[in-house]
Amino acid sequence: EQHDVVVVGSANADLVVRVERWPAPGHTVPGSDLAVVPGGKGANQAVAAARLGGRVAFVGRVGDDPYGTLLRGSLERAGVALDALVTTPGPSGTALITVGPEGESSIIVSPGANGRVTPDDIDRAAGVVGAARVVSLQLEIPMPAVRRAAETAAAAGARVVLNPSPAGPVPLAVLALCDPLVVNEHEAAYLLDGAVGDPAAGAAALRALGPRSAVITLGAAGAVTADATGTARIPAPRVRAVDTTGAGDAFTAALCLRLARGDDLAAAARFAVRAGAAAVRREGAQPSFPTAAELP
Ligand code: RIB
Ligand code: NA
Repeated sequence: EQHDVVVVGSANADLVVRVERWPAPGHTVPGSDLAVVPGGKGANQAVAAARLGGRVAFVGRVGDDPYGTLLRGSLERAGVALDALVTTPGPSGTALITVGPEGESSIIVSPGANGRVTPDDIDRAAGVVGAARVVSLQLEIPMPAVRRAAETAAAAGARVVLNPSPAGPVPLAVLALCDPLVVNEHEAAYLLDGAVGDPAAGAAALRALGPRSAVITLGAAGAVTADATGTARIPAPRVRAVDTTGAGDAFTAALCLRLARGDDLAAAARFAVRAGAAAVRREGAQPSFPTAAELP
């Protein structure tokens, strides 16, 4: 079966508390009641793309704890194919998230089962990965697995999209397969080794690192794209930010879906900013992702 989007990546139980301000090291601040919601950059993208109507599969690992059941259930309810989701002994990935008054989140990720995704997992899932139109990758699983997934996808003619998040080094061999590389300003600065400056120039500079195309997301200011045809600035709809957690994942998922359906990069990004904006209007990661009818 061919999927529009196959996501290879992480699933995390997000442990979320709202705060008025962040504690300094050694300090304590009061927070809201705890919410436990399904998240993780990979699973977020899979759920977001499926909710928008995509045929989606997810490749990854969850633990054999109750969080594993929560994470599998959320993917399943969204209609994501889970033949290549392995349950592994030990804890699931978890993310400790604090959300501030402006909806901005601060996150610590504990890998758990995500840290056990191996190149062998990708080889076992090669049929699913190779049959995808678009394969979407992030950096919450070990790089050897990310790399094998990119190579397997590219060898089979699938389009590779990488969001190198959380920011970290990406081998040139992987960068060269990305079409596009999708980053926020922080990740762009990391890869470019300095401030981004003009976003369109930044996107062009990212392309010079090897990917065929690049996208920089700019939060409320939208996004910029760069490909062989040039650069484009994409404004975002105005929304009131409640919780930005997962908005980047909703953006990337929507982008992947539209690329899979044949849009060019700028057109796909014009759709994707709407999905990202919708996700900041609601609490949590996966619970905040829109259906097509809910897009602003
Ligand atoms: O991108 C948002 C996600 O980052 C959260 O759901 C959390 O799990 C972390 O992985
Ligand atoms: Na959200």
